[in-house]
Amino acid sequence: MNVLTSLSPGSQDVQAIDRLWMISIAIFGLIFLFVTGLIVFSLMKYRWREGEPDPKQVAGQHTVEMVWTAIPLGIVTLLFLLTIKTMSIADPTAAPAPDLVITGHQWWWEAFYPKSGVITANEIHLPTGKSLSVRLDAADVLHEFWVAQLARKMTTVPGHPNHIWIEADTAGTYPGSCSEFCGTEHAWMRFTVVAQPPAEFAAWEQAQLQPSAPPTAPQAQQGEQIFMQMSCVNCHDINGTAAKAHVGPDLTHLASRAQIGAGILDNTPENLSRWLRDPQAVKPGVEMPNFEFTEDQVTALTAYLETLR
Ligand code: CUA
Repeated sequence: MNVLTSLSPGSQDVQAIDRLWMISIAIFGLIFLFVTGLIVFSLMKYRWREGEPDPKQVAGQHTVEMVWTAIPLGIVTLLFLLTIKTMSIADPTAAPAPDLVITGHQWWWEAFYPKSGVITANEIHLPTGKSLSVRLDAADVLHEFWVAQLARKMTTVPGHPNHIWIEADTAGTYPGSCSEFCGTEHAWMRFTVVAQPPAEFAAWEQAQLQPSAPPTAPQAQQGEQIFMQMSCVNCHDINGTAAKAHVGPDLTHLASRAQIGAGILDNTPENLSRWLRDPQAVKPGVEMPNFEFTEDQVTALTAYLETLR
């Protein structure tokens, strides 16, 4: 998995934030060096020595006081103006309609593309070189959506949509995480942003719009039956079947995603079985209960879920 870093900008907006950070760090660094330098200099030059009189005592120097007021005022004003400039990124609420709606859930992310109707979870695809306006919602508590390399971070608030822009200059996979404590599994509320050239993104979108094909292998068919009979359908949606609930992640194209459990496991058949056997053992506190499936049921369900490409 890629490392979450805020020091490697992948978009114009984050470059601007990064520049502001670098300038600030340079200024703070110079102040630190200047102040520690003065302290060290004074310690050495004016240290107590046997037989020497006290140095000349001064108080109420107007010039000195004006200088040490003016310099910090100048620095703070400069940082203020640079911050205003960095904040002047266009207002995403001015966009006519969001390109992407992200909803934070305990503990996973839903991604909905209103213009095409695609809905997915924890793996957000973007076309490169295009700023998407994102609407951020929360289903339960406060979360914070953060893809450090591509956009500013923003809190998701139940009942109060927030808006940001997201954009990727180059194709690649960018890690993201929830960055506001939201309960037991806050640390495992991860996601990835997959930035693709526009044609590749369009193909992905088309593939995501396809309903699931009925399974043909007997084991997978049996898995589908179990899925529809058990309470799986009360929480999950699989387009093309009777499963239409939107409490948990949409599973229509589950097998095409790289990870499960919001980043906790790579999406392999072994890991999927492990998850089905006892989700609570993999991700304690997750909303999905342990259904105590038999080993045959786990095998059949895994076979079915693996057909959802
Ligand atoms: Cu969601 Cu922390």
